[in-house]
Amino acid sequence: MKQGTGKTALVTGAGSGIGQELAKLFAQDGFNLVLVDHNEEPLHRLAEVFESNYGTETVTVINKDLAREDVAIELYEEVKAKGITVNILVNNAGISTYGKFATETNWEREKEVVHLNVLTTTLLTKLFLNDMVARNEGRILQLASMVSITPFPLMAVYAATKAYVWSLTQSLRNELKDTNVTVTALMPNATATNFFREADAPKLNVEGMLDDPAMVARDGYKALMKGEAKVVPGGLANKAQEVMAYLSPQEALAGMMRWLLTPKHESDRSDDKTPNWAIGLGVVAAAVAGYALVSAYNNLGPVDKMRYRYKAKSLGNSANNALSSVADSVLGAYHNGKAKVEEALA
Ligand SMILES: NC(=O)c1ccc[n+]([C@@H]2O[C@H](COP(=O)([O-])OP(=O)(O)OC[C@H]3O[C@@H](n4cnc5c(N)ncnc54)[C@H](OP(=O)(O)O)[C@@H]3O)[C@@H](O)[C@H]2O)c1
Repeated sequence: MKQGTGKTALVTGAGSGIGQELAKLFAQDGFNLVLVDHNEEPLHRLAEVFESNYGTETVTVINKDLAREDVAIELYEEVKAKGITVNILVNNAGISTYGKFATETNWEREKEVVHLNVLTTTLLTKLFLNDMVARNEGRILQLASMVSITPFPLMAVYAATKAYVWSLTQSLRNELKDTNVTVTALMPNATATNFFREADAPKLNVEGMLDDPAMVARDGYKALMKGEAKVVPGGLANKAQEVMAYLSPQEALAGMMRWLLTPKHESDRSDDKTPNWAIGLGVVAAAVAGYALVSAYNNLGPVDKMRYRYKAKSLGNSANNALSSVADSVLGAYHNGKAKVEEALA
């Protein structure tokens, strides 16, 4: 018997991208599904595929614009009225705008971003979590992001909503620790979905380094099923970037993330002739250095930890200086950072 037999997973934003890949994993594992999106057509196609390929017993399609006021209550009541018990909730649907907050982005659209990413996510979590706690059974996967823990200039409101999701999730974990209910934050790096086009962004630098949505979903699914607090999908580079986000000064991070969201055509004709590989190298070098620092830190005694903290701070300052003038100091930062890591590890 498959682990999902007789259980139901509800996935919001299941019509494309990471949500669609997650829905497929649930179907393969024998779960019944409630698929929610504001565009019904792809959901019906998915339902047919799941029923014929994986023998899914029940796929319920619900068409909802989740950026509307109080839509979470409507969705919850509709699911209850159909007599469905939701064992797993995936708060996946999420959107962004693109541009400078003060002068370029549209407030009406930004309100939708906050509504969907924050209010709907929070209320759906509250309503379904209440039932899960009453049954002492259930799991929730929250789509946070790598930008939950970094600034993201040109997607400022989006990043703030994802910081909220991350914070909410970690607090709820503590409140739920004496129950069999778990909440997990999935923190993908930039992923190859419709996300950037839906945000009306032009072709961006970040689009040369996108992760595979199927990989993101697989890592998220595993963490969800194990009831883990969070998962950064992908390999060492993504995990190192997470560590770097905790260690680096915010200004340096903001500079790096701003470059990622800079339109590609602007970088191509910029007077700054820094090759992309040099920036990439600096970012990776800094990230790996950060990862090495934390790994070593975890193995130290309390006195060495104090000594180490001082060294990590000085490495952070070096990284800050280097990244803020990345054009001419990337390689210098690499050697400087590497030397400091070696010194700290000695
Ligand atoms: N892609 C990335 O780089 C990335 C990185 C980290 C985190 N994430 C998060 O991952 C989640 C999934 O995004 P994705 O990358 O898979 O993007 P996506 O391909 O655009 O998928 C988003 C899904 O949500 C649906 N949706 C959008 N607005 C909706 C609304 N008002 N009501 C109901 N459904 C709505 C979309 O439907 P339509 O297609 O019909 O519009 C789509 O099916 C989001 O929470 C996003 O913030 C993405």
